Amino acid sequence: MFSSFDDKLELSNGVQMPCLGFGTWQVPNDTTLESAVSTSLQLGYRLFDTAQIYANAGAIGRAVHASGLSREQVFITSKVWGSHRSYDGVMSAFKDMLDQLKTNYLDLLLIHWSAAQGEPMIWQSQNAGTWRALEDLYKQRAVRAIGVSNFLPHHLVPLLARARVKPMVNQLEIHPGHPQFAAINFCFKHRIAVQAWSPLVRGTLIHNTIIRDIADAHGVSPALVAIRWSLQHGFMPVVKSLSLEHLKENKKYFDFTLTQAEMTRLDNMPTMSFSGLHPDTVTF
Ligand SMILES: NC(=O)c1ccc[n+]([C@@H]2O[C@H](COP(=O)([O-])OP(=O)(O)OC[C@H]3O[C@@H](n4cnc5c(N)ncnc54)[C@H](OP(=O)(O)O)[C@@H]3O)[C@@H](O)[C@H]2O)c1
Repeated sequence: MFSSFDDKLELSNGVQMPCLGFGTWQVPNDTTLESAVSTSLQLGYRLFDTAQIYANAGAIGRAVHASGLSREQVFITSKVWGSHRSYDGVMSAFKDMLDQLKTNYLDLLLIHWSAAQGEPMIWQSQNAGTWRALEDLYKQRAVRAIGVSNFLPHHLVPLLARARVKPMVNQLEIHPGHPQFAAINFCFKHRIAVQAWSPLVRGTLIHNTIIRDIADAHGVSPALVAIRWSLQHGFMPVVKSLSLEHLKENKKYFDFTLTQAEMTRLDNMPTMSFSGLHPDTVTF
């Protein structure tokens, strides 16, 4: 279990991944993001999560460059969008990612969503072709780790059957009220680290009475209860915040421990605020 903000999770290939990520979904490529990344770097945040589709890597690259930190001190993740779900597509997207981030490598590259519609033989082979490109980038040492996002066990099984390099990470929507334990347990069994997206339910969990009760019992915020629940289970939250106050607060997850009864209560909360983005039904 993590005991300090600087603790890292060791991936299956030995790469050390910071446990709390800074998310950037729906944040424009502008000076607000640049300034939030700069502030978070000063506060000690080291993992930045972007994606081809977010189109905001430039602001992250500028802030990292201006920070004075060496590239090795920062962990940058990006994700390949469905429009580039092929070997050549990945190679072209990857080149743009490096240009925008002003770097010559990525720490983690993910397939953003599995291809999962229509004839299984076809989408399985599309995922395998996309994965082949990630494997080659990994073998060329252009990325330190590779993985997937929004892959459920039935997407992972065919991928693992053909993979020369196993995914090191799977990033999934996980939060109290939408825990996805079947997918998490599958990943853990295969030594795939799990990152949780929308861990704060896009800011709405502050209104949940169960989470508020537990937060009050510890004298912490509802956001910290959700972050702590993730980390105590062993999956790494990627949290978005552009607020200095929240960035400072969200670091304090190691100051308290949730009891087993509280963990069980959070695990069994009624389904809450699923985004509705299911890999088998999304149209991208
Ligand atoms: N792989 C995928 O398909 C996928 C999909 C979605 C998201 N993601 C990744 O996961 C990241 C996080 O998910 P998300 O952006 O959906 O949302 P989230 O992290 O669940 O929630 C973000 C919201 O919570 C608020 N917040 C942050 N700290 C808080 C605190 N201490 N108290 C109260 N409110 C707080 C933020 O507002 P303030 O700015 O005011 O703090 C923001 O409105 C994304 O940004 C992205 O990097 C990945």
